[in-house]
Amino acid sequence: PQIATPLTPPMVTSADFAFVFDIDGVLLRGGKPIPEAVQAMKYINGENPWGVTVPYVFLTNGGGKTEAERCLDLSRQLELDVHPGQFICGHTPMREMAERYNTVLVVGGEGEKCRIVAEEYGFKNVITPGDIIKTKQDTTPFRKLTEEEYKNSRFVDLENTQIEAVFVFADSRDWAGDQQIIMDTLMTVEGKLNKRSEVYNEGPPCFFSHNDLIWSTSHDYSRIGMGALKTSLEAVYKAVTGKDLNTFAFGKPQMGTFQFATRLLQEWRQKSHDIADPPSTVYFIGDTPESDIRGTNEFNKQSDIDWYSILVKTGVWQEGTIPRYPPRKICDNVYDAIKFAVEREQ
Ligand code: G3P
Ligand code: MG
Repeated sequence: PQIATPLTPPMVTSADFAFVFDIDGVLLRGGKPIPEAVQAMKYINGENPWGVTVPYVFLTNGGGKTEAERCLDLSRQLELDVHPGQFICGHTPMREMAERYNTVLVVGGEGEKCRIVAEEYGFKNVITPGDIIKTKQDTTPFRKLTEEEYKNSRFVDLENTQIEAVFVFADSRDWAGDQQIIMDTLMTVEGKLNKRSEVYNEGPPCFFSHNDLIWSTSHDYSRIGMGALKTSLEAVYKAVTGKDLNTFAFGKPQMGTFQFATRLLQEWRQKSHDIADPPSTVYFIGDTPESDIRGTNEFNKQSDIDWYSILVKTGVWQEGTIPRYPPRKICDNVYDAIKFAVEREQ
C-alpha cells in the first residue's frame, strides 16, 4: 500500500527539554509584547524546521491579579492560549499560607484585586490598608480614600482584631500610607491592633511576594519595585524603633519558588502533553541576574534536572556591565534564546 508523504513535518512534542519564561523584560515591557516575543512563542509551538513543540511554563515575580485573569491578559498579549496550569506569579506560593493564617493584612495592587486573590487562596479574614483608613481616617494624614475606595472598603473592629501576618502581594500604589499601616501592625503585640508593643519585636511576620529591587517597564531605565519598598520598610522600622525587622520574601530567586515551578512543570507536561518523565534540561530565560539567573544557577546545584540559565538583553540587565550572577548563555532576545536552545537539543 502507498503511504502518503506529509507536506509539512508532523508535530512532535519534545519530552527531553522544557522552557520556563520570566515575563517582564523577556516577553513584555509595560504590558506590551517585546517585538520578538510573539514570534518566539510560535517557534516553540511548532513553527520551526523540525516541527517540534516544547512544553513551557511562566514564572514571574509580578502579580496583583488572580492567576486566571493574568493568563487572559497574557493570552491576548502573546497571541496564544495561556492556561493557569502553566503560570506562577510572585504570590502564587502564598496560597499555601492560608492554612496557617486566618486574619491577614494584604497590601498592594489596584483597588480590591489583591483582596480577591487572597480570598481565592482561602485566607478567611482579609484586611486591606483601605479598610483601616475607612475605619480611622487619621491613620494616614495625607491619604484620603476616593469615593469608590471608600465604598469597597470594610470597617474593621480595631479593638478586637488580631492580624496574624502581613502579606505584600503586589506593588504598593501608596508607599507612605501603606508603610504607615504596615509599621502600625508590626509595632503591635502579636498583631492586636489596640495593643502597641513597648519592645517592638513581638509583631506578626511580614511577607513580600518577591524582592526585586528594580524591574523592567516601558521606561528607558529600570524602575524601583517591591524589593525597594521592603528595603525602605526595614530601614524606617529600624530608624523609628531601634529594632531590626526581619521580613521574608517569596518569588525568584528563592529555592521554594523553583521547587514550586518544578512541580507545576511536571503536572503541566503530564496533563497537557501526556509526558510522565521529567525533562533532562529546563531552559530558564530571564532578564534579571539577581533573581532569574541567581535562582536558576543555585537551583541547578540541587536538582536532578539540568536547569540552564539564559540571560537576555531586553530588560533589567544592560550590555556592557558584568552580570552579578553569570548565566550559562547570553542572547539578544527571547527569540534568539529559544532558537539557541532548540538547536542545541537537535
Ligand atoms: O513586579 C514584577 C517584577 O519585579 C518582575 O517581574 O516577570 O520580571 O519576574 P518578572
Ligand atoms: Mg524579568
